[in-house]
Amino acid sequence: MVNKITSLAEYLKKYEESVADPDGFWGNVAESHFWRKKWDKVLDWKFEGEGAPDVNWFVNGKLNITENIFERNMFMRKDQVAIIWEPNDPKDKEIKLTYGELFDKVKQFANGLKKLGIKKGDRVALYLPMVPELVISMLACARIGAIHSIVFAGFSASALADRINDAKANLLITSDGGFRGTKSIPMKGIVDEALETCPSIKNAIILEHTKDEVKIVKGRDLWWHDVIKGVSTDNKAEEMDSEDVLFILYTSGSTGKPKGVVHTIAGYMVYAEYTFKNVFQYSDGDIFWCTADIGWVTGHSYIVYGPLLTGATSVMFEGVPTYPDAGRFWDIVDKYKVNQFYTAPTAIRALVAQGNQWVTGHDLSSLKVLGTVGEPINEEAWRWYHDLVGKARCPIVDTWWQTETGGIMITPLAGITPTKPSLATLPLPGIQPILVDPEGNELKGNGVEGILCIKFPWPGMIRTTYGDHKRCFTTYFSAYKNLYLTGDGAKRDEEGYYRIIGRIDDVINVSGHRIGTAEVEDAINQHPRVIESAVVGYPHDIKGSGIYAYVICEDLSDDNLASIENEIRETVNKFIGPIAKPDKIQIVTGLPKTRSGKIMRRILRKIGEGDATNLGDTSTLLDPGVVEEIINGAKVPVKR
Ligand code: WT7
Repeated sequence: MVNKITSLAEYLKKYEESVADPDGFWGNVAESHFWRKKWDKVLDWKFEGEGAPDVNWFVNGKLNITENIFERNMFMRKDQVAIIWEPNDPKDKEIKLTYGELFDKVKQFANGLKKLGIKKGDRVALYLPMVPELVISMLACARIGAIHSIVFAGFSASALADRINDAKANLLITSDGGFRGTKSIPMKGIVDEALETCPSIKNAIILEHTKDEVKIVKGRDLWWHDVIKGVSTDNKAEEMDSEDVLFILYTSGSTGKPKGVVHTIAGYMVYAEYTFKNVFQYSDGDIFWCTADIGWVTGHSYIVYGPLLTGATSVMFEGVPTYPDAGRFWDIVDKYKVNQFYTAPTAIRALVAQGNQWVTGHDLSSLKVLGTVGEPINEEAWRWYHDLVGKARCPIVDTWWQTETGGIMITPLAGITPTKPSLATLPLPGIQPILVDPEGNELKGNGVEGILCIKFPWPGMIRTTYGDHKRCFTTYFSAYKNLYLTGDGAKRDEEGYYRIIGRIDDVINVSGHRIGTAEVEDAINQHPRVIESAVVGYPHDIKGSGIYAYVICEDLSDDNLASIENEIRETVNKFIGPIAKPDKIQIVTGLPKTRSGKIMRRILRKIGEGDATNLGDTSTLLDPGVVEEIINGAKVPVKR
């Protein structure tokens, strides 16, 4: 397979080449793609100065990413399965789409979108369950040059509306509902509520999936099956520039509202394909399964773009790991003879807790490679995954990356890089990590710990934050001159391997979902009785981090004290969604603040961790008595 590294020596050689001559290295990788017009220059960039960041890969190249998935591969792969869709309920029938079938569906839906007036550059919001039509929608947008913005189906009406409005999307593609275990999620109802405050939306396309009854708004709502009725499957892809936008994906940061991370076509394409085949060591004919939701970047890059660009067979699953029972993942691995399996540590920990018997009855002999992503994996979970699932014969790739990086950055290459439990090991070719101290001084050599930054562009990197380029600079490039700031702390061990320690900013990683503390606080503060709140993460056995909210309320009485916690949880559910509901809520009368009024989250984190003996310097606190009260968990005075 072209561009696939096959030995450690080759990796080391490629790595050196990629640093010594990035243009030569990436230009060579991109040769295997299908270009309408080749680039003039591989890379043009600056992280500093007027208009920064300004990163351009494959400058003036012309292409369409779907031509690289379909036309480029069609001769060889027309009858090969591209997508295997496994339904939520094992009693329902799976769907297999060959490259030929998927191609026809993408072209037909692309024509349907055009008929509705959607054109190059338009933003299309996708709010869909994990069904093949989600993939078809993404690729149809890419085919006509529209920008997709996928909103995870677990977000609330208000969170969906915020994202639609920020992107000024003019079309929404959704479904009557989606299935998750025993539940069916009434997505269209959520959409109807969201669209009341989304003036940019002209139409909504609704896929019939759960067949639950839905309201159809005349003049706005159209059924998916009507949009494609009688529509031709002939479609010529729109010619796009390398740096035209492929998609926007919203993610949380330490401040304010979520930001739209922007990825552009050529760089993302080259990076998604290159990382996919190298990290997982995919071989022709393998069955690859990434369990993520396409609503997150992992699904974008490793269910859809990476595998399909490579010509792989990619499994997508609508359901959850524990329905109908905790053996569901292993049933699916067995059913499709999955070769590479990629999941999140939180899912592994949840399954560890269910007991080994759910794994042992299954034939997992097809597995060759196991992967993890989203958060640090603890050694116990790693051992279980390695010994019980992989029978000690499958390498584990612990892949570190971010929504902003587009693809995997620091990781072993499966079966090539010697691994150590819970270490992401080494950077991929083209990736130049650096550790700095808080002042930005480089920490050289091995056996050091610091803030993880990247010092040179890579093709899959973020280009801007949608509608607010300055925010992109401030968030990622202003802390340290000429460095991309990841927001993670990391350690480089004696061998030069990286261990990712976790976020150094106010972002919590809950079950691999990235949640900004400020966002949760904003939601909590919407409750009429809440005066102020402070949210921190705390160690949680299954989720990695749980959400701990300290809340000051007014007018508490015996009656409403009992219900206030649930009301606060419901408020968060309404403004963000179930993923952001606090696990612990402590009602307090005050919060530890500096004299300038800044909440000292460091102290709250320590208390949340149950480590109140070592709070560090509290001398700058406005009112140290508050800390005592919180530690003692003192009940708030209740008005009678
Ligand atoms: C944050 C990015 C990238 C896909 C899923 C999450 C954490 C990610 C690892 C890993 C330790 C990891 C980091 C990172 N993270 N992978 N292998 N080991 N931590 O994407 O929502 O953008 O979150 O997830 O803290 O900054 P995301």
